[in-house]
Amino acid sequence: WLIFGGASLVLFLAILGFGAFYLGTHPQSHGVTIDPENVEANEAFQRENLGITQVDDDKYIVNVVASAFNYDLGSDEDGNAVSHLEIPKGSTVLFQVVSTDVVHGFNVAGTNVNMMVEPGYISSMEVQLNKAGEYTLLCNEYCGVGHHMMHATVEVV
Ligand code: CUA
Repeated sequence: WLIFGGASLVLFLAILGFGAFYLGTHPQSHGVTIDPENVEANEAFQRENLGITQVDDDKYIVNVVASAFNYDLGSDEDGNAVSHLEIPKGSTVLFQVVSTDVVHGFNVAGTNVNMMVEPGYISSMEVQLNKAGEYTLLCNEYCGVGHHMMHATVEVV
């Protein structure tokens, strides 16, 4: 039984290693890498491009920089940090999220937007939000003492 247990472990690790190193599988990041210490090197994550941007009639991009313990959604005209997003119902939204420190979660509770945000990768997901309402955007990966304070709101109008 010990040999069987050991062999199973080797087999599982081999499958995991094949996926990670040969197939280059990473959770919802599509293999796009970014330097966590310098996310601004990517235009999408420069301060003025954070938050929601309309790119077409019914297409939006939401760029977010996650860090302990905050989602940076840019600033409004008065320079205040944005913590509320309004998305027109039925439009297509591409969420792009990066982390500058540890692993964070990006979950719009009640929708199928649920990503792991790993430092070094751009997590992206395109969705259509068809149900109006106010949703809570929250971190669902334990990231430190302020984990529970990491949230914002997403309103589909
Ligand atoms: Cu970020 Cu938990």
